Amino acid sequence: MEDDFGDVLRKAMRGTGVGSETLAREIGVQPRIIEAWLQYDGAADDEQARALARVLRLDPGALADSAAKRWHPPHIAAHDVRHHPQDPHPSNGYVFFLEEGRRAALVDPAGLPQNLLRVLRDGDYHLQYILITHKHADHCDATAAVAEAFPQAQIVMHKLDSAAIGPLAGKALEVRDNETLPFGDGANIRMLHTPGHTDGSSSFVFASTAFTGDTLFAGSVGGAYGDASTYGDILNSIRSKLFTLPDETVIMPGHGPPSTIALERLHNPFFPRGD
Ligand SMILES: [Fe+2]
Repeated sequence: MEDDFGDVLRKAMRGTGVGSETLAREIGVQPRIIEAWLQYDGAADDEQARALARVLRLDPGALADSAAKRWHPPHIAAHDVRHHPQDPHPSNGYVFFLEEGRRAALVDPAGLPQNLLRVLRDGDYHLQYILITHKHADHCDATAAVAEAFPQAQIVMHKLDSAAIGPLAGKALEVRDNETLPFGDGANIRMLHTPGHTDGSSSFVFASTAFTGDTLFAGSVGGAYGDASTYGDILNSIRSKLFTLPDETVIMPGHGPPSTIALERLHNPFFPRGD
């Protein structure tokens, strides 16, 4: 899992503005216990996790599962999606294919360019799109190298984040929420503007897979680091734009393992059930 109990706790405390003192008082422990949990030193028991969840507006059962490390998504392999590590970054990049592997799109060009280019050149296909989920270096610092190697590929990125790719921003097609990009014969890629982690954070949906960048992780959400967008925005982006996708949609996040929309609705601590 990308995020441990300590990460979930930190993101929710920061997002709701509830400090360790208040939280400690509310659940009846010493503030140093909360500080220890934030440092991954121990974790709440079931009863404490449920009390924390009520204060932090998290799901009690899912937070208790996170504290006890009781839930992990099953192994999910999506057809026609290849994952590649983005050394030296700890992030995930993906290439997905159609037409029996003859046409492809890349999600998040990042990491050492020579490694990425070796992976990308391993196949006889047409790279049609370079899709960028957001502006952080671990998701787009190899854009120039990939664009140079595949000059026909169209870069797609939200304009609120595109300054990160320098002069190439001028060539990027802007993400427009809910618009589609034609991809092969009758197929398309749907773009979703999902702000919160950054102002221009975007997700891309192809067939029954959603590439969610650092917006939605298995069992967690990205940190809210927007200039204008907030913790409330990231939760709202997920609720209104990702959780409305079909249950069986596989999510391929920017960090950590894949999951599905149905599993996240049930197990993600940031979304209280019955919300
Ligand atoms: Fe990020």
